[in-house]
Amino acid sequence: MWDEPRLRFGGDWNPEQWPEQVWAEDVTLMRRARVNLVTVGVFAWSRLEPAPGRYDFDWLDRVLDLLADNGIRAALATPTASPPPWFSLAHPEALPMTDAGVRLYHGSRDTYCAAAPAYRAAASRIAGVLADRYAHHPALELWHVHNEYGTVCYCEHAATAFRAWLTARHGSLDALNAAWTTSFWSQHYSDWEQISTPRATQYLANPGQLLDFRRFWSDTLLAAYTEQRDLLRAANPAVPVTTNYVLADWVPVDHARWAAEVDLVAIDHYPWSVDGGAEEQTAFAADLARGWARHGARARAAAGPPATARVPGDAAAGSAWLLMESAPNLIYTAGRMHAKEPGRMARHSLAHVARGSRGAMYFQWRAPVGGAERFHSALVPHAGPDSRVFRETVELGGILDRIAETDGAVVEASVAIGWDAASGWALRHPGLPSQRIDHHGEVAAAHRALWRAGFGCDVVLPGDSVDGCALLVLPALYLASDAVAAWARGYVEGGGHLLVTWLSGVADEHARVRTGGYPGAFRDVLGVRVEEFHPLADGDEVPLDGGGTGRIWAENVGLTGAEAVRAYAGGVLAGQPAVTRHRHGAGTAWYVSTRPDDETYRRLLTEAALAAGAAPTCPAAPAGVEAVRRRGAAGSWLFLLNHTDRAHRVAATGVELLTGAAVDTAVEVPAGGVAVVREAAPAR
Ligand code: GAL
Ligand code: ZN
Repeated sequence: MWDEPRLRFGGDWNPEQWPEQVWAEDVTLMRRARVNLVTVGVFAWSRLEPAPGRYDFDWLDRVLDLLADNGIRAALATPTASPPPWFSLAHPEALPMTDAGVRLYHGSRDTYCAAAPAYRAAASRIAGVLADRYAHHPALELWHVHNEYGTVCYCEHAATAFRAWLTARHGSLDALNAAWTTSFWSQHYSDWEQISTPRATQYLANPGQLLDFRRFWSDTLLAAYTEQRDLLRAANPAVPVTTNYVLADWVPVDHARWAAEVDLVAIDHYPWSVDGGAEEQTAFAADLARGWARHGARARAAAGPPATARVPGDAAAGSAWLLMESAPNLIYTAGRMHAKEPGRMARHSLAHVARGSRGAMYFQWRAPVGGAERFHSALVPHAGPDSRVFRETVELGGILDRIAETDGAVVEASVAIGWDAASGWALRHPGLPSQRIDHHGEVAAAHRALWRAGFGCDVVLPGDSVDGCALLVLPALYLASDAVAAWARGYVEGGGHLLVTWLSGVADEHARVRTGGYPGAFRDVLGVRVEEFHPLADGDEVPLDGGGTGRIWAENVGLTGAEAVRAYAGGVLAGQPAVTRHRHGAGTAWYVSTRPDDETYRRLLTEAALAAGAAPTCPAAPAGVEAVRRRGAAGSWLFLLNHTDRAHRVAATGVELLTGAAVDTAVEVPAGGVAVVREAAPAR
């Protein structure tokens, strides 16, 4: 099953939205497209349990039997992301409350409070009943718990649970008061009962409280997940369990931390740019997912051998992740939906597969006639199977079959980029020196620059092993505990190359500023000391010597051992260092005190990566052709994704798997198309 190379292909199938004769047509079309996995039951709670404790499984029995008869497997979902109307009416206190204290009502989805005991009990009940009934069904390949955990609540249930969480985290009120700096603005707590969720406040809220609430809510949602997971696992330990992550900055979920609790990381990915931004976002999301998966696999391995191996996630490869949802066609962008150009769906999907996804899945199989998302794209659009999108679907199904041998191979990367959920949350506080600071966005910008330069990138969590990476980049890693500071220092002292960008290490894990000069946690390694920030206004740029500009942010960098590599070439900081380099121990540490424009950033990171001994994946690939290499026991494969509108030849030797043609010296990658070359000799 999951230990054999086989790429999954399919998407959310909602037979409950259609009369039964459509199901038969669906399955015929799925077979034509070589669909082998469909997600079923995601939002079907009101159909499965039409009244409290009264179940209707006949239809789902028939759906799963139909799939099994046709050799299609199911990612069977628990429907807990959308409680039925009867539940909300019976348990109004389990409806979510906004930070302003407003209760939300039934009528959309995700309308529940994950801290409400009644909701948790009802969710466990339906999950348990599904587990009992289907855990050994021949169609079942994967449990898909819930959908996109992320809904937040500020109610009294949440407040009670928050206090318990805080007690466990801080141990004493004194420790909490210190961590949250409650001496500021008369916020000192003298009794746990005085603490609540961070409800709407008159003016800026306490940053420590906000940060801890985010952490707490991630843990609360995780507990809701593991509760269901344990029931599903108990019913049949051989079936892997996961939940699909939603990637958005409002999501209060630390996906890296969750990765140890899922049997394979599953992400939903919907780019929001129409131009090449969509391809950059795709590559970044896939590298993030792989990084989370690897982090989770290592955390699990460190915790001891699992009772059963469900999805082999080699800790080094971290390959156990799956693109669970993506859009077959439309990209949502400023105020409209953009139809993907021919071939673009396959390119996006194959970019995920190239970076380790165990398949390509979509939302959704068939476009519905009604409901809030009636105009969302689907593999079978409103026009039906006689359509470009469905023809491309069939074609892609064939391609995935032909490249299945790549499944499970290790994705090559020589640069690692640090990502940290808590730094992202902490930088969202409105009291910061600039409202344009965004950890996730800074990680994405560094990734984009390296992507454009052709370097394979891994995403790592602060504290992770970075063995085998030539350069470690830490963009705006605002929070750094002493342990994280020691991790970075040890890496450089041991000979590693590190590149840190502005606002990193400024605060500790409680978001308390480290004094004595920025960037507190990394000052010694970087050999710099910053006294003042000079955030830039929207649209402002500061020139850098050697060309290019800095944006968003600037600092007056004092050298305490480092040398200046680039200086500010204008403005109040003219002549002062903008980028520095420091030999420390056996290694090198760079500091970048502004956000260079994309082209300057690409050149700078290329310089640092090459100096560290990293190499682009395929130096012969022309601009606009993305190259990813994977290695397995049997050899290596080169994925070439041509994002331009003309064909390109790229030097390679081996066999091109889509066409089966021998490649002697170069392969032609069609305009907007993809080539996958099984390389003749181990490439270097
Ligand atoms: C996902 C969600 C799906 C569907 C999709 C639309 O985030 O899981 O149910 O809403 O977005 O793009
Ligand atoms: Zn609540």
